[in-house]
Amino acid sequence: MLPLGSCGVGVSDRSDLQDFSVCSSDSFWAAVARQRLSWIRPFHTVQDCDLSQGRIRWFEGGKLNVSVNCLDRHVHTCPERVAVIWERDEPKSEVKLSYRQLLEMTCRLGNLLRRRGVKKGDCVTIYMPPCPLAVASMLACARIGAAHNVVFAGFSADALAERIRDAQSSTVITVNQGVRGGKVIELKKTVDAAIQSCPTVQQVFVAMRTENPVVMTAKDVAMEEEMAKEDTVCEPAGMDSEDTLFLLYTSGSTGKPKGLVHTQAGYLLYAALTHRYVFSYHDGDVFSCVADIGWITGHSYSVYGPLANGGTTVLFESTPIYPDPGRYWEMVQRLKINQFYGAPTAIRLLLKYGDKWVHKYDRSTLKTLGSVGEPINTEAWEWYHRVVGQGRCPVVDTWWQTETGGICIAPRPADPDAEIVPGMAMRPFFGIKPVLMDTEGKVVTSNDTSGALCIAQPWPGMARTIHNDPQRFTETYCQPYPGYFFTGDGAYRSKEGYYQITGRLDDVINVSGHRIGTAEIEDVLNQCSAVAESAVIGFSHSIKGQGIYAFVVLKKSIDVQEADVTRQINDMASKKIAKYACPDYIQFAQRLPKTRSGKIMRRVLRKVVDSELEGLGDLSTLDDPEVVQEIIQGHHDLL
Ligand code: PRX
Repeated sequence: MLPLGSCGVGVSDRSDLQDFSVCSSDSFWAAVARQRLSWIRPFHTVQDCDLSQGRIRWFEGGKLNVSVNCLDRHVHTCPERVAVIWERDEPKSEVKLSYRQLLEMTCRLGNLLRRRGVKKGDCVTIYMPPCPLAVASMLACARIGAAHNVVFAGFSADALAERIRDAQSSTVITVNQGVRGGKVIELKKTVDAAIQSCPTVQQVFVAMRTENPVVMTAKDVAMEEEMAKEDTVCEPAGMDSEDTLFLLYTSGSTGKPKGLVHTQAGYLLYAALTHRYVFSYHDGDVFSCVADIGWITGHSYSVYGPLANGGTTVLFESTPIYPDPGRYWEMVQRLKINQFYGAPTAIRLLLKYGDKWVHKYDRSTLKTLGSVGEPINTEAWEWYHRVVGQGRCPVVDTWWQTETGGICIAPRPADPDAEIVPGMAMRPFFGIKPVLMDTEGKVVTSNDTSGALCIAQPWPGMARTIHNDPQRFTETYCQPYPGYFFTGDGAYRSKEGYYQITGRLDDVINVSGHRIGTAEIEDVLNQCSAVAESAVIGFSHSIKGQGIYAFVVLKKSIDVQEADVTRQINDMASKKIAKYACPDYIQFAQRLPKTRSGKIMRRVLRKVVDSELEGLGDLSTLDDPEVVQEIIQGHHDLL
């Protein structure tokens, strides 16, 4: 089934449709938006975008409510269909909620938020693990017209506080404790610590994930108790297409995370369409995206995409190796999962445990396997395809970003000529026109070539701006290649025209699929009392994809043991950011390689760590070339 169905556009096959979606983008998106979304008032303008100005507006004049699109319309047709399966940390204790139940939960919460003063235009911070109440919190915000700001529940109090302050939230929603991999995580305590430095916060809703009571303060609201008093009907707010649906913070190449803004109609449409066509999702399928809801993958493919399509979505609260490395596949068997979407880092980890954990369970329900967040190496791809998918399930390596809202480059297995090359993201999605740029900023037209990956025309799912910093949005994404959206990634286009993502071109690294700026980590290291300066780079890591390698110069005036500084650095990185921000290696150095103007030559550091000493390149601009030998020696000593 083509996404235009009977909309009257004369296309006969997928490649026609791909061309049509790009060349007649307005007609394509208008038809799909009318067909796929329920509107309170139709839009009058398909798009008003100018990438060179950073202006992105879709479906203007239209009004809709995202929660109605994700819930009410399915409740009308199939109220008892399972909307959400909550795969709790404790194995074999899943909880299922029908569309009717999820709507009731959302309405109660929407009414509660309204009664407690949350208004259209406010931004509510959600600090929760994946669970139905987290989904209901997101949808309740959408119902009453508030934006949400979900913060990954692995972030520290400081990182949470920074995001609450930037979003200016007066309401935070959390749980008493989280449970992951059998361990209890004190989420409410983290919120308590965070809001010490957040003067805007007036109330904290606390849901009970475990039975252990937590200290409740005057600001705290017992969420389930208060929800029980509310009505199960909640009037949905009529939202303009371009009103904010959510903020989601992500890392860039400076220390400060950026709150990307996604809006209502375009985002929802794009999440829904990509979910259906990249994964070949059919009504009645059970779809499982094991990402945390704190990341864009969880937003688009655990929540908005599947629910907009009336699908059944699995929320995964646990880890791939709890209670053992068979967890994913035991879950696939028990819940009869049809599409499984996960991260290469987990696949690489499970591969090391061997095939027996996979073979133990029946995976015959699986139809499509997805990969996201980082490049998938051929070995992991092959294992995923051959062992997990028994060679019969297509593996879709999906490239996209927090900024793009949904998948932009991926194989479409339903295409009749759907060749899939291992480790390649392959083809652009409908409406996406990728281009590669050379070092002079010109579009590369030939194949079998690499360049900076840009997207040549706007699409509905893209982020609109950076909250509180529209200038940064334009500078980062729109100005490097005027008229194009710059992704920050490099890519290779094969002879056949297929795309393969080669990695970031900026100072952002990807640790186990978690995106983090090297400057963010350096900021933390430099706050340690004994550290004079530091430089952080990513290096290739067999499980995590990339690891963190820190070069640290200590202050001469302070007498400290390196082991103590290492401990302090790890404590600080966990406290200020999250555990995954702790360096894998710390190399203490007397000094760093710098240019005469004082700029650290990261290229040299990268080459040393990658053992590419032949390719150190031109060192003539170094202030003192001898420092390179010191760095090489220090690296040898460390390993
Ligand atoms: O470098 C790319 C990498 O992850 C970055 C986006 O990270 P984030 O905004 O956290 O979103 C992750 C989930 C969509 C990209 O700039 N990336 C994402 N998917 C792939 C990838 N790199 C290679 N292959 C992919 N399939």
